[in-house]
Amino acid sequence: MKIRWLGHDTFLIEAGGKVIYIDPYVLPVNSPLADIILVTHEHFDHLNKEKIGEIRKPDTIFVCNKSVASQLEGDKHVLEYFEKTDVGNITVECVPAYNPVKKYHPKGFGCGFVLEADGKRVYHAGDTDLIPEMEKLENVDVALLPIGGTYTMNIDEAIDAALIIRPRIVVPMHYGTLEGLDADPEEFKEKIESQSSIIVDLAKDKPLEL
Ligand code: NI
Ligand code: MN
Repeated sequence: MKIRWLGHDTFLIEAGGKVIYIDPYVLPVNSPLADIILVTHEHFDHLNKEKIGEIRKPDTIFVCNKSVASQLEGDKHVLEYFEKTDVGNITVECVPAYNPVKKYHPKGFGCGFVLEADGKRVYHAGDTDLIPEMEKLENVDVALLPIGGTYTMNIDEAIDAALIIRPRIVVPMHYGTLEGLDADPEEFKEKIESQSSIIVDLAKDKPLEL
């Protein structure tokens, strides 16, 4: 499995013989076409039809919740919280992602995803705060966690989340793009690696290979 962070919440994952994108919003030129696209929720920085149009094929499969599905044409696997679907030899589960207090992402509005492929489990948290449902996540190899604050967890909250989830590796996301997301990934890396054995990989210049 190869995981590359393209910016914001956009990840390009090669696994199970498929090209998978999560929340395609930041796309370099000549990005490979998608076999599968996961969309966490309907905000423009996650569900972006123009960007999706750059990488979709006629047979691209989308995995998303009902409200995202209602805005997309094509083959869709629609999930509610704790439902799973198989796409080829890849399994995707929708897990809760929400803000308990802030108004941006009420419970039920968006998904996080647990993607299972090649014997590895990757958790993409979506736009979420630290929520009790994270305690139920098991055997996560790589956690993709927002650190930007404002709409999601900030650095310190994401560290608390990582210490609860206990992945082997964390990749920070949802920073350095839009206004209000000025978190420093190096600060996140230093803080978390000084108090745990969790590795922080920015997965940017070189893909993370598992
Ligand atoms: Ni959002
Ligand atoms: Mn967002």
